[in-house]
Amino acid sequence: MIKIQTFNKISDKGLNLFPTQYYQVSSDCTDPDAILLRSQSLHDMPLPNKLKAIARAGAGVNNIPVDKMTEFGIPVFNTPGANANAVKELVIASLILANRNICTGWHEALSLKGQDVPTQVETIKKQFTGTELQGKKLGIIGLGAIGVKVANAACLLGLDVIAFDPHITIKNAWQLSAKVEQASSMNAVLGQADFITLHIPYTKHTHHLIDENSLKQINPHSILLNFSRADIIDSTAVINALNNNQLSQYVTDFPTNELLNTANTLCLPHLGASTVEAEENCAIMAVNTLRRFLETGEIENSVNFPTVNMPYQGGVRFCIVNRNIPNMLGQISSTIASKELNIKDLINRSKKDIAYTLIDVEDANVDEALSLLKQIDGVINCRKLLPNDN
Ligand code: 3PG
Repeated sequence: MIKIQTFNKISDKGLNLFPTQYYQVSSDCTDPDAILLRSQSLHDMPLPNKLKAIARAGAGVNNIPVDKMTEFGIPVFNTPGANANAVKELVIASLILANRNICTGWHEALSLKGQDVPTQVETIKKQFTGTELQGKKLGIIGLGAIGVKVANAACLLGLDVIAFDPHITIKNAWQLSAKVEQASSMNAVLGQADFITLHIPYTKHTHHLIDENSLKQINPHSILLNFSRADIIDSTAVINALNNNQLSQYVTDFPTNELLNTANTLCLPHLGASTVEAEENCAIMAVNTLRRFLETGEIENSVNFPTVNMPYQGGVRFCIVNRNIPNMLGQISSTIASKELNIKDLINRSKKDIAYTLIDVEDANVDEALSLLKQIDGVINCRKLLPNDN
């Protein structure tokens, strides 16, 4: 049995894809082969002995100690794009909510209970006059799956869109509306936009990307939206900017106590990907990715491992994780040859410090070769598979 430990609410549409004759899936399983989760933090969790993979049903992987997993040769997967539409819709909704002062107006309307409500609403409404999106400028930092969808939707709403992403992929560039203006720097976006939305992952490089200095570039009438991660923005600097009228409103999916106590914030409880459709899409994609890795050794959508696809050629498949250093492949193939095993197919790919090799060999008697492969200096882990035979 392959054991999968789950954390958080994972849609049954995905979980039901694990065949019950081969997989045991539960939230309280011990010594799992793989972990499937959403936002649960694994930073303080001891590493289970048999752990082979972690799949994040969602985009952000800052809750997973990715560097540590890489050191132990464990791939971390995510589901890029699977919840992008849900986030896009919430970003657009929040833009309208904030720009038309809908939440504050609604709150005030509720406070009229028991009074002459029809008369009172006509009196109070002047406090909540908003502006329209059409013709205003939306600045986007990050054109991944979500940023591109937000950009395209904003263009359709009549906004002018300016965006910055020095690492945009060819696939995302193809999907981006030709109307989107390309900015040469983040500050060019901050300085021109009426609304600014961030769609980048949280890493040590994006920690407090928006800080006191960058907030000074922003027009005081601007609204800043954060549906990415809390610490991409220095919230103390944002609170100061709001209090000093250097920023008009801050919309965030990652509230803190201080933000909840600050005027002109719109705080949501991390709802970006919380739709039935997104939860299903993420769970299905995560389970399929995980099964593929566990059953065939192939890798797709990993944040720390290279993409590796190799159709199964029969016989036994070795899946070898090794350090990305010279002469690993030479040692691996001569070890296999030393046991007189014929290689039918082989693929080797690397990503930064890690390399991953799949080798299909003809013969079934491979255990000695497997134990020798594990002893090669630089091999981090190695397993054998008979794909489609769990
Ligand atoms: C993500 O990283 O995909 C989103 O922030 C959603 O997180 P969640 O799965 O915990 O809702």
